[in-house]
Amino acid sequence: MKILVVGGGGREHAVCAALKKSPKVTQLHCAPGNGGISQIAECHNNKATDIDGMVNLAREIQADYVFVAPDDPLTLGMVDALESAGIKAFGPKANAAIIEGSKSFSKALMKKYMIPTASYGEFTDVEPAMNYIKEQNEFPAVIKCDGLALGKGVIIAQNLKEAEIAVKSMLEEGKFGDSGKKIIIEEYLTGPEITIMAFSDGKSASPMVSACDHKRAFDNDEGLNTGGMGAIAPAPFYNIDAERECLEKIINPTIYAMAIEGRPFKGILYFQIMLTPRGARVIEYNCRFGDPEAQTILPLLKTDLFEVMTAVIEERLSDLKIEWDNRHSACVVMASGGYPEKYETGFEITGLEAVSDVIIHHAGTKRESNKFFTAGGRTLNITALGKGLDTALEKAYNEINKINFKGAFYRRDIGRKAQSIINI
Ligand code: AMP
Ligand code: GLY
Repeated sequence: MKILVVGGGGREHAVCAALKKSPKVTQLHCAPGNGGISQIAECHNNKATDIDGMVNLAREIQADYVFVAPDDPLTLGMVDALESAGIKAFGPKANAAIIEGSKSFSKALMKKYMIPTASYGEFTDVEPAMNYIKEQNEFPAVIKCDGLALGKGVIIAQNLKEAEIAVKSMLEEGKFGDSGKKIIIEEYLTGPEITIMAFSDGKSASPMVSACDHKRAFDNDEGLNTGGMGAIAPAPFYNIDAERECLEKIINPTIYAMAIEGRPFKGILYFQIMLTPRGARVIEYNCRFGDPEAQTILPLLKTDLFEVMTAVIEERLSDLKIEWDNRHSACVVMASGGYPEKYETGFEITGLEAVSDVIIHHAGTKRESNKFFTAGGRTLNITALGKGLDTALEKAYNEINKINFKGAFYRRDIGRKAQSIINI
């Protein structure tokens, strides 16, 4: 089988690596790919958001399947376009990917189907938004853009002044463009946050191992929000009771709600959940694998990803038993100095050949005459597996020390909170 993977980050490297293991996959292509991916797949220069270009590429290379990994092409309808062209594709159609693309949509869905989430109001004008905040009179207040905003469209305002600045930046000053023309104002929740991703064929869901992402740039959750600076799996807070609660109140009802709404969700549904003192609450949905959660979790997938992908596409997921390695996984992201703000690229990466017993997924890299150079903010993901979380973390941190490039930095406290819970 010939597979084309759309995207070019660490997540896509992890997807390519998992598909490469399948005896059924004879040819792997990726667009645009990256330096690391180019070692295991043929990379093509297409932009991940170029729908027509991707359909043409899939036709040219006669791809049997296309795996669309990032949110942008999914919300733009790449799967719809591929299917219309008679090409089998993995990922939700645009009418289901909207669960990530519009918070206004996802909040209304949760309200209608009584899926637990923070209470909220929705606004397009400053005055009613500010009136709502004053009426609620509860701080912090959470102010969110309706649309996609590269993880930056959430502002936690500590007081009325900060709330006003946030509301105006979105609705008046257009700081987030069209994504911020409508905003959601939400109740502030507290508790440990977990990531649950589930394969779904539109009818049933098969949840993966739980994970915890680390979104802030620096240690102790300081600095700006990023796509994620590291993750661990499984999440120690996710005990049997939490698992049952999430499955019964969140995961299954969401799959059911989307089907009833005529938007069957086929692909990977990502639930960001906060385990609050009053129960599990959805913080947000994503319509795809998380990054770096995919790099953390896919090495634990024992079942062939190609088999899972086809079971989803053919709507026979409930017949497939998906198996997971029961070890712990820890993934640390190496980033370019300055990320998530301004950073330089083009620096040679050294030491990659010196590491052992870890999995390296490239994110922002390029390869030139068998040398690797930095080409993005998040650059490399170093994942280690171990019987316990401690061993997995120790391995990842021992080996990451051997890799270097100018300005490289990484968080030193990935998994520390989880360790403190496990080791109580
Ligand atoms: P999001 O982009 O929706 O994932 O939000 C980014 C981060 O903001 C989340 O990881 C949470 O830590 C935080 N956040 C979002 N919504 C809330 C909320 N209602 N209460 C508390 N924190 C929140
Ligand atoms: N790691 C969070 C995300 O992929 O959105």
